Amino acid sequence: MSIYDYLLTHEDFVHKDELKYPFEERGLQFGDGIYEVIRVYKGKYYLITEHVERLFRSAEAIKIEMPFSKEEVYQRLGELLEKNSVQSDAKVYLQITRGSAPRDHAFPTGTKANLYAYAQDLPRKTELMRSGVKAVTKPDVRWDWCYIKSLNLLPNVMAKQEASEAGCFEAILHKDGEVTECSSSNAYLVRNGKVYTHPAKKNILHGCVRMRVEQFCKDEGIPFIEESFQVEDIQYADELFLSSSTAEVMPIIEVDGMKVGSGEPGEVTRKMQEKYEADAGIEASIFAK
Ligand code: PDD
Repeated sequence: MSIYDYLLTHEDFVHKDELKYPFEERGLQFGDGIYEVIRVYKGKYYLITEHVERLFRSAEAIKIEMPFSKEEVYQRLGELLEKNSVQSDAKVYLQITRGSAPRDHAFPTGTKANLYAYAQDLPRKTELMRSGVKAVTKPDVRWDWCYIKSLNLLPNVMAKQEASEAGCFEAILHKDGEVTECSSSNAYLVRNGKVYTHPAKKNILHGCVRMRVEQFCKDEGIPFIEESFQVEDIQYADELFLSSSTAEVMPIIEVDGMKVGSGEPGEVTRKMQEKYEADAGIEASIFAK
């Protein structure tokens, strides 16, 4: 999936082959930074306000001074798509680090944040969204502040790799049996027509798509209950699904080798997928014959 030529940086646009980062860079050496992954459909951002707001919340939480104001971020992100003539379904990856400085754990003084953002084609995962995916459960060994979208993703990477080795799409994370979220998405359980998900506390990422799922449920009169569920509840679930900017609303049809509900994507999940497409203004539906 091709990356478009021009990257937005804290200074200016730079050709992707010309971006130079010093090796003493806080993001590289400490994971001392934050990021966002923003979805683009046919050259237009989806949920950009939610992402930019979260970016600033993450920056504040780890005390990074942003190199741009919010208005500038909106403007430059718009320019990034224009400069690259992005017309396709894509994603924009944006990261900000505490900057470049001699390696020392404590914050350096007088160092400015580094930023880069690039756009990459990202076709929708149409087949998987139709069929549903498999998942495994794994202990959530992350820190307590997962609401910060930090560059420290090693536990997420390890869990996703284990899922991948088991032939699965995602790892459902749990703390002593209580499901928090997935390695790179939020998790939901459906039982008796109600949607259950971990409350948006500090130990999960408050997903932008999760916010929309909450609204979709409200629109449809489906109770959206911010109560965590247990791994052992999955065997009694009617449906399970996950959400993220890259996976949209994805049915989970098997967990740890056991079928979820009927083993097919369920009614509530389908409704959420339908609402997502309408909300994002997607014309080529996954439901089209
Ligand atoms: N991940 N939880 C975690 C741990 C995530 O990494 C993500 C997103 C989400 C869903 O958030 P949103 O709906 O705002 O995309 C939940 C992105 C896609 C990534 O790291 O690639």
